[in-house]
This record gives sequence, structure tokens and C-alpha cells, in this order.
Amino acid sequence: MYLELEKLNKSFDGKSAVCDLSLGVERGELLCILGSSGCGKTTTLNMIGGFLAPDSGTILLDGQDVTNMPPERRPVSTVFQSYGLFPHMTVLENVTYGLKFRRYNRAQAREKGMKYLELVGLADRANAHIHEISGGQQQRVALARSLIVEPKLCLLDEPLSNLDAALRARMRGELKRLQRELDITMVFVTHDQEEALILADRIAVMEHGHLLQLGTPEEVYREPTNDTIASFLGLKDIVWGEDGSVMKIIRR
Ligand SMILES: Nc1ncnc2c1ncn2[C@@H]1O[C@H](COP(=O)(O)OP(=O)(O)OP(=O)(O)O)[C@@H](O)[C@H]1O
Ligand SMILES: [Mg+2]
Repeated sequence: MYLELEKLNKSFDGKSAVCDLSLGVERGELLCILGSSGCGKTTTLNMIGGFLAPDSGTILLDGQDVTNMPPERRPVSTVFQSYGLFPHMTVLENVTYGLKFRRYNRAQAREKGMKYLELVGLADRANAHIHEISGGQQQRVALARSLIVEPKLCLLDEPLSNLDAALRARMRGELKRLQRELDITMVFVTHDQEEALILADRIAVMEHGHLLQLGTPEEVYREPTNDTIASFLGLKDIVWGEDGSVMKIIRR
């Protein structure tokens, strides 16, 4: 496994947020962590990224114990739920920020930045300041900023939550395409079942800090191990592709 979480625990004020969480992610895999608000998704992601220290447990990345490694030393790029953009910089400056520490001159950084802005449909706002663009646009800037460095591991915390349905579907497709093309290992957090079913190679379903089920979309949908998951997913008919991917979701 490329990423391995072993018995991670995190409590806040004596209240458990993540409990004995163990799971592995293969290299190049897209894992969706699916669960309702407050179930511990962001806490889990923050521990993987190094922004939050677990109370106990181990995080292995590419065979290395990174549990106590500071975030900037991990080969990990994070799209935060709150975006975390630099407010005093333009859209393009935000997107190209991570290239500063790599071998890119200004022109190359600009060219690559524009390519990623095109990808998220914001090339025409390259010189706008962050406060001049909408929440959904900020979310796309955050996405471009994380992907531009072509990270080995990309952590995404509900990165499409503020987009309208059409844009969300398009960005979902782009994200999946890039993930495959650049062979990025992704951990994608969402509370949206459809999004998880469509995007994921495997889904980790969480509830109250616990991992309820880990499996392919088809396994989780067809053989939910728990009533909560069954009722959560059971409202839809799904047309499956031969490779086990979701072709179409029909709402009953
Ligand atoms: N810094 C903190 N201090 C105290 N409690 C916290 C802190 N961060 C998270 N929690 C608590 O831990 C639990 C898990 O929170 P977390 O943010 O991981 O949930 P989540 O699954 O990301 O939810 P959402 O879908 O709403 O983003 C919640 O009960 C939350 O109130
Ligand atoms: Mg969260």
C-alpha cells in the first residue's frame, strides 16, 4: 500500500473524533471518504496531511513513517475545505505559488498556471484578486493550486461542494481524468453519495469517527455491511459498466 493508516485516534476535549481508523490506499488509487457532517473526515485528512497530530496510531507513506513529519516535508498537496488561499495575491499568483520552490522560471510558471486555470474554467480571471471572485471560483483556484504541483498524494476536502450541478459534473470528470493521467493518489472527502460512487476506486464509509465499510462502489452499494449505509445509498438505481464503474445513476 502507498498510504497506510494504522489505528489512528484523535479526540478533542475528551470526545473522540476519529477512532481506531485503519485503512490503506494503493498507489494511483482514488479513495473517497464518505460520511455525514461531523463524522471525522476533515480530522482524518488533516492527520494525513500533517496539520493535526494523532493521539495515537501510525501513518505510513511510501513505506516511510511520516506520523511526526511536518506537513511541508510530506509529498502531499491539500485542497482545504476552507480553501486556504492567499488573499493578497491574484488568482494566477495563487495557482503558481507551489512552482516557486521547483525549477520553473516566471514565463514557464505563468504558462503552466494558465493551463491549470483553463482546466478549471478561470483563465479569464487570472489577474483578479481573491476577494473579487466568488466562493465557487475560489474553490476552483484552490483545486488548480494543488494539482499544478503534480503531487504524489493529493488530499481533497469536499473540493466541489460550492459549485453548481453542471460545473460540478464537469470538474468531477476533469479531476478523474487528471488523476489517471498524472497517476496521482487521491483521498477525496465528500458527504455526497453520488460523487463518491462516480469518482471512487474505493469508498471508505465513516460514521461517528469509525470506519463502517471499505470497498469498491459496487461492493458498498450492493452489499452494504450496515443499515445506515444501505439506507444512505439504497435510493438509487445504478447502471454499472463492465469494469465496475458507474455508468449512470437513476434516482428512484
Ligand atoms: N479543532 C477542534 N476542536 C474541537 N472539536 C473539533 C475540532 N475539529 C473537529 N472537532 C470535532 O470533531 C468531530 C469531527 O469533525 P470533522 O471536522 O473531522 O468532521 P467532518 O466529517 O469533516 O464534517 P463536515 O462534513 O461538516 O466537514 C466533530 O464532532 C467536530 O465538532
Ligand atoms: Mg469537514
